[in-house]
Order: sequence, then C-alpha cells, then structure tokens
Amino acid sequence: MADQAFVTLATNDNYAKGAMVLGQSLRNHTTTEKLVALIGPRVTEPYRTTLNSIFDEVCLVDIMDSKDTAHLAMMKRPDLGITFTKLHCWTLTHYSKCVFMDADTLVLSNIDELFEREELSAAPDPGWPDCFNSGVFVFRPSNETHEKLVKFCSEKGSFDGGDQGVLNSFFNTWATADISKHLPFIYNLSSIAIYSYLPAFKQYGHEAKVVHFLGKMKPWNYSYDAESREVKGHSLSPDLLHLHPDYLVMWWELYCKSVLPVLKQAYGDIPCNTDCTEDKVCGDVKEVAALAPVPPRQISSEERKQRWEAGQADYMGDDSFVHIERKLDSFLK
Ligand code: UDP
Ligand code: GLC
Ligand code: MN
Repeated sequence: MADQAFVTLATNDNYAKGAMVLGQSLRNHTTTEKLVALIGPRVTEPYRTTLNSIFDEVCLVDIMDSKDTAHLAMMKRPDLGITFTKLHCWTLTHYSKCVFMDADTLVLSNIDELFEREELSAAPDPGWPDCFNSGVFVFRPSNETHEKLVKFCSEKGSFDGGDQGVLNSFFNTWATADISKHLPFIYNLSSIAIYSYLPAFKQYGHEAKVVHFLGKMKPWNYSYDAESREVKGHSLSPDLLHLHPDYLVMWWELYCKSVLPVLKQAYGDIPCNTDCTEDKVCGDVKEVAALAPVPPRQISSEERKQRWEAGQADYMGDDSFVHIERKLDSFLK
C-alpha cells in the first residue's frame, strides 16, 4: 500500500550492505509495500546510490547515541548506543503504518501480512522472552510518539543502552496486555535460538519468514567463495553460535547476485578507492574469498570434546548444524 512501508536503518557502509540485502529480499518476495532506508551521514556516496536503486526512499537522519557505556558494556556491544537513531522512524508521518526491520535481518517469504497488526507488535527476545526484540516491529509513525520517546530517552535512559531497552520500558504492557501484539517467533528468528533450542528449530525452523543475524558477528564480517558456496570465517569463534551457515549462504548469494554488481557500478570503472579497499566491497567475490583465514588444523576428538565443553564449538566445521542434525537423526531412529 502507498501509505505503508518497511523501514530499516544504516549508519555506516557495513550496515548499508545489510540494508541492501534486506531490501532486495523484500523485493524478491514481491512486497507491495514501500521500502524506506534511514541512513546516517557516514554512509558514502556509492552506497547511497545503490540503496536508492533498491529502496523507494533513502532518508538522511541525525545520529542519536545513548553514550551509555556502562549498560552497553553489559551487552558487550559498545557500538549499540547509536541504535537510538532507530527512533527517528516515528517521524515518517507520511506513512500510516510501518514495519521496522534491523539491517541484519533477511526475509525468506512475503511478510506483508504484518501490516494487519497494530503498534507495538513484535516477537519475544530470545534472551528474555518477556521483552520484545526490537529487530522487527510494527509501529505507527507519529510526531507525538516520537517526542515522547526522545523525552523518555533523556529522562530515563535505556536499561540496555540501546533502543530495545527504551522501547520495552516505553511500551511496557507488551508482555501482558494483548496477545495479538506478540508476533510469532518465525517473524524474527534470531539465529542464536537455533543452537539454544535445536529440537524446536528442527520442528519449526522451516516455517521461518525472517531470520535475524543478532549478535556481534554479522554476515558481512565473513567472506564468501561463490564457486564452492562456502562462507569463510574464524571457525572456532564462539560468536558463530549466533549464525546459521545456510542462512549465511543465502545472505551472501543475494549480496553477490543483486547488490555487489550495482555497488561496483556505483563505484565507476576504476572501482577501488580507499573506502572500498577497506570494506573489501570492490574485490570480486574470489578476491574476497582469498582474504579468508586459513582453515584450522585438524584436532583429536578428545580435544574437540574439551573445546565443546568449554563453549568453543566449531559451528562452521565439525560441530556444524548438518553434523548435529545427522547425530540427532541417528538418535531419533
Ligand atoms: N545499526 C546501525 N549502525 C550501527 C549499529 C546498528 O545502523 O553501528 C542499526 C542497524 O539497523 C542494526 C540495528 O541498528 O541492524 C541494531 O543493531 P544490531 O543489529 O547490530 O543489534 P543486534 O540485533 O545484534 O543486537
Ligand atoms: C537488540 C536488538 C537490536 C537492538 C539492540 C539494542 O538485541 O536485536 O535490534 O538495536 O538490542 O537495544
Ligand atoms: Mn539486529
């Protein structure tokens, strides 16, 4: 509908990559809603051009930062103070209803039915299910609500240092008042939940409509070999706990197929400048893959067990989801 929109946010070029993949995934699943990207001043010109080719509107907004280092340290995410910028989405008053989606989400099927929901609808947070996760939520733009939220931020702050803390305190009846405002988890499947409740993922995972790469490591922090369809990364990083390899491949395929070519064009014929060297966007996919770290050495099964028990599972390798699934299947038989 003309007066409804999906909205996302990117304050820098890396999150802009996520925003572009998200926008493209919404397009691929033939949304009939408008697409809006809020961007910060640090997003560079080629990224703005590419965002413009995917989104109906790209709006430059001022950065809002909680600067609440104490609470952010508790989340081990000092970078998230800037998520206060998300609150600008309430100023998009030329739309009657919107769905906000984090730039690290990926749409797996058409989700236009979300617009049948009311403000504030969201899915439970996997870490504390009486709070909603603010990576996907339905809202009604309103200058009045925006002003109240900004005032709330400056007077009361946020218990997590980011937007999710503020929004949960502001919309504080979400957990109890109206079940229709609880979006099913499949609209915001945080990849962390895959490993924290694997049998549920096995049972319901195929119904997922939106996957959320929640956590410090994002798809764009990895590299990808398009030929072997392999995502490369630090295979022993505990952060991999948050990412599911199949969804990672999906993200990268979309990025390589639909985003990278436009981005390269936006950089012009002589593609590399300092910015893109830094972000590795100009390298073709092969070059990017060449930057992948060397694979880990072979380890004994005893050492593997010790690492697993110490929380250092090799989620991209021996302990990958396919292997766990195979094991589960053998138990179930
Ligand atoms: N974001 C951004 N720049 C940043 C950090 C966050 O634009 O430096 C935006 C982006 O839309 C992102 C959202 O804020 O998806 C929330 O941050 P993130 O997804 O990293 O938090 P998580 O879901 O991992 O807790
Ligand atoms: C969360 C949400 C994210 C939010 C952040 C800061 O984990 O996934 O959308 O920006 O916390 O509050
Ligand atoms: Mn997120």
